[in-house]
Amino acid sequence: MERRDIFITATDTGVGKTVATLALATLLQDQGYDVGVMKPVQCGGDDARFLKKSLSLKDDLQDINPCFAREPLSPHLAFKRQKRKIDVPKILAAYQQLKQKHDIVLVEGAGGLVVPLRDDYFVADLVRELNLGLLVIARPGLGTINHTLLTIEEARRKGLEVRGVIFSEISSRKRGIPERTNPREIAKLSGVLVLGTIPYLKSLRRPEILRRCAGMVDLKRLLEPSAGVSTARQKQLVDWDKKYVWHPFTQMKDWLNEEPLVIDAAKGSYLIDTRGNRYLDGVSSLWVNVHGHGHRHVNRRVREQLEKLEHSTLLGLSNTPAVELARKLVSIAPKGLAKVFYSDNGSTAVEAAIKIAYQYWQNAGRKGKKYIAHLANSYHGDTLGSVSVGGIALFHKVYRGLIFKTIKVDFPDCYRAPKDKKYPDYAFECLDRFEAMLKKKHGQIAAFVVEPVVQGAAGMIMWPKGVLKRMRELCRRYEVIFIADEVATGFGRTGKMFACEQEGVSPDILCLAKGITAGYLPLAATLTTQKIFDGFCFDYKDQKTFFHGHTYTGNPLACAAALANLEVFKEEKTLSRLAPKIKFLSQKLPMFYNLPHVGDVRQRGFMVGIELVADRQTKKPYPWEERVGARACEEVRRHGVILRPLGNVIVLMPPLSMSLEELARLTDVTYEAIKKATS
Ligand SMILES: Cc1ncc(COP(=O)(O)O)c(C=O)c1O
Repeated sequence: MERRDIFITATDTGVGKTVATLALATLLQDQGYDVGVMKPVQCGGDDARFLKKSLSLKDDLQDINPCFAREPLSPHLAFKRQKRKIDVPKILAAYQQLKQKHDIVLVEGAGGLVVPLRDDYFVADLVRELNLGLLVIARPGLGTINHTLLTIEEARRKGLEVRGVIFSEISSRKRGIPERTNPREIAKLSGVLVLGTIPYLKSLRRPEILRRCAGMVDLKRLLEPSAGVSTARQKQLVDWDKKYVWHPFTQMKDWLNEEPLVIDAAKGSYLIDTRGNRYLDGVSSLWVNVHGHGHRHVNRRVREQLEKLEHSTLLGLSNTPAVELARKLVSIAPKGLAKVFYSDNGSTAVEAAIKIAYQYWQNAGRKGKKYIAHLANSYHGDTLGSVSVGGIALFHKVYRGLIFKTIKVDFPDCYRAPKDKKYPDYAFECLDRFEAMLKKKHGQIAAFVVEPVVQGAAGMIMWPKGVLKRMRELCRRYEVIFIADEVATGFGRTGKMFACEQEGVSPDILCLAKGITAGYLPLAATLTTQKIFDGFCFDYKDQKTFFHGHTYTGNPLACAAALANLEVFKEEKTLSRLAPKIKFLSQKLPMFYNLPHVGDVRQRGFMVGIELVADRQTKKPYPWEERVGARACEEVRRHGVILRPLGNVIVLMPPLSMSLEELARLTDVTYEAIKKATS
């Protein structure tokens, strides 16, 4: 059985740790648990005996309190004065004894986490050796935010899992503003659960505890099994990662010299590492998660599908979820899209789109239309076809010898229009140049591929209104297939289901991936119009078939997750509930301009880019080697938030389900981290 033992520490001495331990043990006993308690180190006083007696425990006092010193001093000193040393193996052995006898063991520390047990060994080190989740007991009044946050920070620094904070009232004083607001503030600032308050107890007798404490503490969440794994297993995973895994987009030389974070579980907006530390998922696990991690409905639908059919090929067969999903996607996609071609990821969705567009014209006998046009600074994925239509030098330069020839279309980064040009007029000037090019070369151009409205990986570059519509019209006028790559923007990220809807645009081909399965499983879809589809329907002998497909195309589990994703959109009214959150973000974001090295803050829906610059006046970028964006993201991690930058642009792209409180924490932590990284 999963153990639920807890180490109880406090923000300070005299906070009411022993009373809290007694109250929690009493409440748990009342729920039918066999509870053991332990006070491994005690200096002066009689807490261990008091707990044993009050809880009617039969355990040996030696096991409840293996290390005792007479004087009420810091343990390292109290034991030194008795010419003894705290015996850690003895503590560990006593804990093993109690563990075997009880369902739950509550281990009460001595003072706070940084209390020395020996000159070189602190309470936090003992918690780590016992491998227990931590409960922090805090005073409710003024000053407790500071003490509690310091305790949590130290716990995280030592790699401990903080299960929660409980307030302990040690006097009958009336509750003032600090008492009323501290729980919310601490939860918001730390990301740790506040599990309740132990009220002031005049008498420590069982009936009084049960009467006064009933419903005051969230025992269920306190006892949720820890997400972490043992210390030995943590080390093993890190070693194996370094030995066997080659990470994407990662300089592995650096990686091998760092301590990687290994994610073990997730719930809602939080990722949880092997130590049980919780992190706000500020980029939706690379722009994929939609309704939060471990969503009950999506879990259930995937589980149900698993019991029926895990996989069957779409080459020569069909399968139920793939059919149902195709119908659903066509029903919600911009008008005119009629057919769904499945693959597994964003790059393959674009790859298929490019090949379909190219072959469409070949099949039609328009052999000259063989070039794909794309924006010069675009990103559409990492397979060679999608790299060919990409233009991010850092990623793509080295493959120049391998990729096919394309037509690059210059389009302004909204923040960096030339000095003498005004934005957004300049964007439309560029479109005039695009038109001039189409006029001349449209006979050679098969398709134009773009990310509508927001160019994500290019640095969260956002277009002024009207650009998308005009691009679409130009493509129609010059017989160029218009491919909208909504791998990043699709499924609500810009505030509408698809970014194309922002301007009422229907592309000829639509590429979807990332959020399509709510971030559960790899799946992509390339949607086309009936006209394009018909361009492939000939006799087999004509050799005009689309000879393209991947083994896991239309995987039933992934399609079931995608169907569940769309059901949740409808059931939970995700898009209408998103609108106030987008507004909230737009009210929070201007504060970033208070930081002198923030050059630009861009937002479209739940997609945000905060561009850091060496000089705001001249917009001079930080040299990429300085990794200023990466440093800011390392800093947020220390405060329980996960972000991943795009060079000097800090990206926020939270799950659509993120609450206002979590959004506030995400922006506040990011603000402080940028401040630190750029000072
Ligand atoms: C717009 C766009 N297209 C394509 C891709 C490639 O998707 P994948 O990483 O799933 O291959 C990405 C990935 O970030 C993207 O943002």
